[in-house]
Amino acid sequence: MNEFKERVVYQIYPSSFKDSNNDGWGDLQGIISKLDYLKDLGIGIIWLSPIYESPMDDMGYDIADYKKINHRFGTMEDFDELIAEAKKRDILIVMDLVINHTSTEHAWFKEAIKDYPNNKYRDYYIIKEGKGKKLPNNWDSAFTGTCWKKIDGLDNKYYMHLYCETQADLNYYNEDVIQEIEGIMRFWLDKGVYGFRCDVINNIFKSSFENDSFFKLANKGDKYYANQKGMFDILKRFRVEVLDNYNCFLVGETCTLTPEIGREFLESRALDMFFEFDHIYADKFSKIPVFRRKFQAKKLVGPIFKWQEEVPWIANYLENHDQLRSVSRYGNEKDFHSESAKMLALFLLTLKGTPFIYQGEEIGMTNISDLKFEEVNDCASISTVATVQKILHVKKEKAWKMINETICRDHARTPMQWSDQVNAGFNDGEKPWLRMNNNFNLINVKKEQQEENSILNFYKRLIKFRNESDILKYGSFERQYVSNKICSFYRTYNGRRYLIVLNFSDEVETYWLKDKLSLIMSTYNEDFHMNALPPHFGGIFEVI
Ligand code: NOJ
Repeated sequence: MNEFKERVVYQIYPSSFKDSNNDGWGDLQGIISKLDYLKDLGIGIIWLSPIYESPMDDMGYDIADYKKINHRFGTMEDFDELIAEAKKRDILIVMDLVINHTSTEHAWFKEAIKDYPNNKYRDYYIIKEGKGKKLPNNWDSAFTGTCWKKIDGLDNKYYMHLYCETQADLNYYNEDVIQEIEGIMRFWLDKGVYGFRCDVINNIFKSSFENDSFFKLANKGDKYYANQKGMFDILKRFRVEVLDNYNCFLVGETCTLTPEIGREFLESRALDMFFEFDHIYADKFSKIPVFRRKFQAKKLVGPIFKWQEEVPWIANYLENHDQLRSVSRYGNEKDFHSESAKMLALFLLTLKGTPFIYQGEEIGMTNISDLKFEEVNDCASISTVATVQKILHVKKEKAWKMINETICRDHARTPMQWSDQVNAGFNDGEKPWLRMNNNFNLINVKKEQQEENSILNFYKRLIKFRNESDILKYGSFERQYVSNKICSFYRTYNGRRYLIVLNFSDEVETYWLKDKLSLIMSTYNEDFHMNALPPHFGGIFEVI
């Protein structure tokens, strides 16, 4: 069955979705209480960011026990209830599978660093000897700095962490590790989950541990750990030994990708779809992402179109828990908040592939306008501020400004804005784990439910339309036009053809539509002249 190609996915960031017991953390009962909301929105699959036991140094992407529910989120009974309640509403649940690393609080790691002969857990992790007084190699952590951390009490031994210091990389040369992961996948699939979003999956296998070029600015080491053959072999084995026995799918988080490798993922069945990262540099520099540049629609749409053309299927997204809010980045949150949020929605939901909506995107949630460094929780932002200060010799304020505008992940992680009541209806008043965005009296679900032309109601109509449209679900893609103002593309299926037109600018744009068209749906209610597209217009036309 191909539900994953036909349904719209909604990503829930559990800490921030809905706090049912007023302890400041979102939880599983909170999610259950909102299933009707998601059903009504037209969602068919929920991707849950990690809900496993974790010290939360990287907000759950540091797992301490793969088979336990994080006590902040509830119990295994709550999880079973969630699966059952979702099933009643024909909603499938996808888990986050974080298997490049575990938390250093995981029992395997705690055992691995104990010093006794034949310690089998030592080999679960990438633990190497320093080269004399030097580190084992010159690789970087994705969160800046070296990826090696010395182990206290062991003679000159270091463990690898490609992400934060408390995320130790697993060793995929070890058969026991592979079998443990297979057991974990079976455990959740047996509970009824519909698959996994695989965290940084193309980094799991390191083919060599030699130094990378000393002249590289960042990501030193990726040539030895991104997209290696060993990773493909492991994923193919998961497919045959585990996944083929269930109705499920895998979506991979895969930065550093080429279309060729993307196709290999699909053809080998290593993954069913993946997230590409090329379009996220529309407003910052890819080599040094802490440097911002003015948003250019071409730099967003161009890479997305390229991927549409290059691969038969893909996971489409404009937002997630690692990215700044899309309406603040690619739209105009100040003057055309509603218009630009709807246009981005129309873009996302008319592309070829599976659309992934991130919680709050459907009401146009924005970045926090006045976030202070002292309030930041995101471990990557905190370490990057320190590194930028050191490398660029700038003051903390300057470093924070750069990070705040480009990569700070807390903007997307603020509690969901359900109403204009205390803490936006996220809970009953206990201080949330991360501060609220102050604009919740203006942007919230309750308000948008009541306004016919709200962003939320537009999403609802659009998702319904997509769920019922063979052209949008199965049609081919063909680019028509890309500029920094207007972008357009065709979707074609069984002889019927849609033209999707988007205006990214703040002005009315003249656009000579060559085909004979009939308007199917647009982000504006009022009539408009077909060739004069209002600011941030988005429309679906049928070519007749
Ligand atoms: C990608 C996840 O989306 C991100 O939140 C996390 O910090 C890293 N992987 C490391 O697990």
